[in-house]
Amino acid sequence: MQQRSLRFPTGFLWGTASSSYQCEGGSTNNQWYRWEQQGRILSGEACGQAANWWEEAEADFERAEQLENNALRLSLEWSRIEPAEGQWDQAAIERYRAMLLDLRQRHMTPVVTLHHFTEPLWFAERDGFARASSVRYFVRYVAFVVRQLGDLCSFWLTLNEPNVYAFQGYLRGDFPPGEQHLLRTFIVLRNIMQGHVAAFYAIRDLQPQAQIGYCLHYRLFDPLNPFSPLDHGAARVQEQFFNWSVLQAAESGRFTFPAGALLPPIKGAAGARDYHGVNYYTRELVRFDASVPAEAFGVRLVKPNTMRNDPGLDASFGEIYPVGLYRVLREVYRRTRGNKPLYVTENGFSDVQDTRRPRALLEHLAQLHRAIRAGIPVQGYFHWSLVDNFEWNNGWYVRFGLIEIDAQTQERTPRRSASMFGEICRANAITEEIVARYAPEAMERIFRSRSDAVPQMQPDLKKT
Ligand code: BGC
Repeated sequence: MQQRSLRFPTGFLWGTASSSYQCEGGSTNNQWYRWEQQGRILSGEACGQAANWWEEAEADFERAEQLENNALRLSLEWSRIEPAEGQWDQAAIERYRAMLLDLRQRHMTPVVTLHHFTEPLWFAERDGFARASSVRYFVRYVAFVVRQLGDLCSFWLTLNEPNVYAFQGYLRGDFPPGEQHLLRTFIVLRNIMQGHVAAFYAIRDLQPQAQIGYCLHYRLFDPLNPFSPLDHGAARVQEQFFNWSVLQAAESGRFTFPAGALLPPIKGAAGARDYHGVNYYTRELVRFDASVPAEAFGVRLVKPNTMRNDPGLDASFGEIYPVGLYRVLREVYRRTRGNKPLYVTENGFSDVQDTRRPRALLEHLAQLHRAIRAGIPVQGYFHWSLVDNFEWNNGWYVRFGLIEIDAQTQERTPRRSASMFGEICRANAITEEIVARYAPEAMERIFRSRSDAVPQMQPDLKKT
């Protein structure tokens, strides 16, 4: 009998994603280091050596190559490149050149994020993106980097998750600078998105062939009681606020009312991207509660009796909900009127024992395949993450790696998911045989609406 399979388009990018602070180690000149020093990391740990990439990233790149990844997403540490305002550290640039060269020699496309939550202390001390002048500093750094590294990289992500950066840092107060101020949250969002637009045009001028975008974190919010109009309303408001108002502002330059009435528009926003980066992890269920106006009258809960992440020390990691990836891709595509290709720039699971990750990864990839079959031009998938790394406020408490790290000894131990991901990348497909070995219980779910036909990679939509 013929094996069933879900084949991905030729040229599909397969890789993992990471960030400088979480992997490099020794980053002591940014606002997250200061946060650590203030004792704000919930696990009480220090990032320290992290995954030691500043010294030995290449050893992990080799591991990614063995998994037949053809791409790898990493970020640059602005605070290393510009440690003091206007001063550039050529040694840091040389280190990044060596990393990018190594990736290219391994035939992996480097995808480089220019801002992944951390920024130099001198910049943070000037009120970071809360000031309109921040845009000028950010663009100057970006232009410097592209001049220095543009011969080795042409796939850029200007910003990682500006919505998480602004909401956690300025509204919830659980990321630095730890503020809780609605108006400043939107000022920061507006300025950082203006930074993206300015960076987009700066890169476009220096490197006309570059692929340039940013990624947002998309969470789903569904009503706890599907029959309750109040739960529905509260869930809709949360989803609109966290995901869609930010996407809409990025697309059109204007925030919805009331923020839109108070803030200047993001100039030049329309068209300032070559692709949409989608980070997706989880969904939450929302119950209307009149006593929590600050939470838009919605209490967020994790669905009971379902596949879930290892809990962290905060409420970040909840349900593992594969269909959500399809729903998010479809919604981003619809809301952007299909104007650009999409990349899943992050998706992953905290699962130290690796008991759920194989099935979770297979089911998410099956939903991604479903999106491609539905005509949504998804052109790559980046798993968070290759190795365990320092998970922001959770430190080493939660583990997202395909490969486990002993933080004391730096010893690496691949989890089963690593070899499974490698087999999928090698085959450019999910085969029945792979599912049978790693998560037989998911077989029918994965091939339920299968198609053996290879979906065609969509034409390059960049110039349409
Ligand atoms: C962030 C990563 C983080 C991951 C897991 C994403 O929102 O971009 O830096 O490690 O979530 O929490």
